[in-house]
Amino acid sequence: MAEQSIYQITNRDPLHGKHIVLGVTGSISCYKAIDIASKLVQAGAYVDVALTRSATEFIQPLAFKAITNRQPYVNMFNLESKDGESHVELARRCDAMLIAPLTATTLAKLSHGLADDFVALTALATDKPLLVAPAMDSQMWINPATQDNVKNLTQRGVQIIGPSDGRLASGRVGVGRLTDPARIVDELRYRLARELGDLAPLKIVVTAGGTREAIDPVRYVGNRSTGKMGYAIAEAARDRGASVSVVTTVDRLPAAGIRDIRVESAAEMLEAVRQECETADVLVMAGAVADYRPMNVADQKIKKAESDRSSMTIELEQTTDIIASIDRQQKTGRLVKVAFAAETQDLIDNARRKIEAKGADFIVANDVSAADSGFAVDTNQVTILDASGLEESLPVLSKYEVANIILSKALPLVDSD
Ligand SMILES: Cc1cc2nc3c(=O)[nH]c(=O)nc-3n(C[C@H](O)[C@H](O)[C@H](O)COP(=O)(O)O)c2cc1C
Repeated sequence: MAEQSIYQITNRDPLHGKHIVLGVTGSISCYKAIDIASKLVQAGAYVDVALTRSATEFIQPLAFKAITNRQPYVNMFNLESKDGESHVELARRCDAMLIAPLTATTLAKLSHGLADDFVALTALATDKPLLVAPAMDSQMWINPATQDNVKNLTQRGVQIIGPSDGRLASGRVGVGRLTDPARIVDELRYRLARELGDLAPLKIVVTAGGTREAIDPVRYVGNRSTGKMGYAIAEAARDRGASVSVVTTVDRLPAAGIRDIRVESAAEMLEAVRQECETADVLVMAGAVADYRPMNVADQKIKKAESDRSSMTIELEQTTDIIASIDRQQKTGRLVKVAFAAETQDLIDNARRKIEAKGADFIVANDVSAADSGFAVDTNQVTILDASGLEESLPVLSKYEVANIILSKALPLVDSD
């Protein structure tokens, strides 16, 4: 039964089952708050929406009612809509409050402790995490009055998300755009995870993607890894509150709560992993590191015309095995090392040999030639092996689920000796 429970992951999303108050204020980007509410509901959160009067000029409370299945709050003097529940009760029983979009006006109210509408009142009355996503014209944002208010709120522990650069409603391009709704929801997710997640005190280093070993300035020796497994581990660890560094070869937008360290070659990956591991608790080597690299890298592009040969040979030399070369003992204690074995044949025998060679606590083996496993797909079918002889074959699962199982196996090993 113990084996079953390890992959019967219930919902690990930190938003699941949480009670979120979403404050919406009178910005042209109000319509994006519908998307935010929808994403929160889809993540399993209970969402109570509070709108300012100005917000209702832009969007109807009905739209939020339809999405959240709960009656939005607008009039703080009307206590009939929710069995007489007041703003104070709402502020007390929520797990976090998010105001998105946040206008310059409500920002100023929060800064000065004013409480003359439902949104400002609830924000003042709550002692739970408060996150705000401002949206306004650039001139309003950079105005010293607004910046002073931002400083005030930051000093009081309010988390300011954005705003981002881009095209504004005025047609101008500049700072002031509401941060992308998915990113806003991710920031809230990470904030809750840091407070509640089982990996919250830990630092996890993950590698993602395949390395590129230069032949000349334009060509390289590479592999088919897309980094999906590595990023699934990074996101799962982030969602459980860990501080996460991804040493990656993949060009992706940075995600909330995940520190991206971009590298290209095996040598660069080794250097970055070494540095990050000095203060880490767990290293998961999900990246596909080249075993060999060209011995000589040409300074200039190798020209076809320069050679009349119909073939050419590139001599390769072995790269350093990253996980094997990382010390178990680091500045902050023992590092748990998790290796990956991507194989196309003799999966288990090859993986078992690698456990010892790499000094890993356990190894995650997958057959990258199978259709629902390996590179570029969102699922994986893995077998986990450790030095004690344990061999655990998991069914086909999403990479996120596999990631959670790996993290749950690593967690008890942290500081275990
Ligand atoms: C079309 C239109 C768009 C607006 N967009 C914004 C905006 O993006 N950000 C902002 O701070 N104010 C914006 N305002 C001004 C606010 O609606 C106004 O300051 C209002 O008092 C804000 O009230 P509230 O913070 O209580 O919602 C806009 C006004 C109009 C008419």
